[in-house]
Amino acid sequence: MRKVTNGQEEFADFNLTEQTSVAKDGELCDLQAGVADCDEESPSDSAASAKKSDKADTNVSECESCGETYADEDTDFSFRTAVSENAEESCGACGTELIRIRNMTKKFGDLLVLDDISETIYEGEKVVVIGPSGSGKSTFLHCLNCLEDPTAGNIFFDGVDIADFKVNINEQRQKMGMVFQHFNLFDNMTVKKNIMLAPVHIGISNLRKLKRRNALVPLNNFIYKFFGESHNRALEKKVKLYKNKVDKLKSELEPLLLEWESTKGIKEVAGKSFAVYDKKLTAKKLRLTDRLEKTERKIDHAAPMSTLEKLPVETSAKRIKQEVSALADRLLARIGLSDKADVYPSNLSGGQKQRVAIVRALAMNPKVMLFDEPTSALDPEMVGEVLDLIKQVANEGMTMVIVTHEMAFAREVGTRILFMAQGKILEQGTPDEFFDSPKHPRLKEFLKKVL
Ligand SMILES: Nc1ncnc2c1ncn2[C@@H]1O[C@H](COP(=O)(O)OP(=O)(O)OP(=O)(O)O)[C@@H](O)[C@H]1O
Ligand SMILES: [Mg+2]
Repeated sequence: MRKVTNGQEEFADFNLTEQTSVAKDGELCDLQAGVADCDEESPSDSAASAKKSDKADTNVSECESCGETYADEDTDFSFRTAVSENAEESCGACGTELIRIRNMTKKFGDLLVLDDISETIYEGEKVVVIGPSGSGKSTFLHCLNCLEDPTAGNIFFDGVDIADFKVNINEQRQKMGMVFQHFNLFDNMTVKKNIMLAPVHIGISNLRKLKRRNALVPLNNFIYKFFGESHNRALEKKVKLYKNKVDKLKSELEPLLLEWESTKGIKEVAGKSFAVYDKKLTAKKLRLTDRLEKTERKIDHAAPMSTLEKLPVETSAKRIKQEVSALADRLLARIGLSDKADVYPSNLSGGQKQRVAIVRALAMNPKVMLFDEPTSALDPEMVGEVLDLIKQVANEGMTMVIVTHEMAFAREVGTRILFMAQGKILEQGTPDEFFDSPKHPRLKEFLKKVL
């Protein structure tokens, strides 16, 4: 299970972007992580460019999303600069992908909560998820930013497979704003501090990292001078051995996975579905995947040494705090709560708390906002003010995934509605087709009850 923190490592306004290093997170790599511009090509970049040159040989492809055929040469590959080799491709006509979910499964023990979900969310979309209680809507949302780790499958967010254990999830999570049913504000901090907390933390921790890195540059270069080349030679040999081991483990795992998958059965207990597999094969699969992951991790951590140069420090802790404070003031003015900046959340109404929670998420400048029933804990007269704010944010072009029971709101704001039941997306469509001509009997039955 990943460690979940609010700690974030980047704040766009400060131009202190840590190099997106998917594969390297060891000590040495930290030292070598670029801040702001870094010329090094990351492993994922090279995977993408390799993929790009592969594609140059082919003229026509079929879009994985809409099924249309398209010519490869004119396709804009810019989005996929960090896309893993496993990511599929779209024609561009159906939009720029932001989240691509592939075969996502989530189990709590034996309880199958998400059953092999594949879905793509495009930039600017407002995807509304509805469905009966216990159908897995919240779990779906939590898996999207790995608050819950999926049991199986891939989630490509902004080109990076965030379900991959090698990815620095906190770095990715800061690009996703999450709003919960119960606000989750810190009661011991004023409203303004709640908004400032994460951006200041990220700004300052990036600044510290940069200063630490610069301080270690002379030592790094001194060590490199005497041991660098021999270290790199020894490392190269080791990596070769690990790679051979990975190939061997993969060739053992591949047929085993097929055999294991073929033993899948669904057990229904008390109206819930449980996935069951052969126990011996499951144990063998876990042993092999564990060994494979450990060996792959060793390869990823094997960072060769090189000489480094100091990077410029363009900001200070004081300036970061001032800038975030000004941002918090602007956000509070936007929701008409400037006079509440110094009060504690316990003195706010539910609607005010939720609006603060929304702007707190916006302060991180996210690429997508995830809402889990943002109005269901509110008194009816406060629902409107929160929905109005969400509509405003939606109209500004923000990509959104919203779990809600507010059908009128879903129809008004949603560009696509998904119906989830028993861990599957049973039907989806534009609001009009979805609500006016539902097809799946389970959706028809659900809409009869809620409309
Ligand atoms: N941490 C957990 N441990 C065990 N089971 C869980 C956990 N979280 C959720 N579940 C189970 O997973 C299933 C789906 O839960 P989830 O909260 O995703 O449903 P939901 O569609 O959001 O329901 P609601 O509309 O009531 O919020 C439920 O059966 C729930 O009991
Ligand atoms: Mg829920």
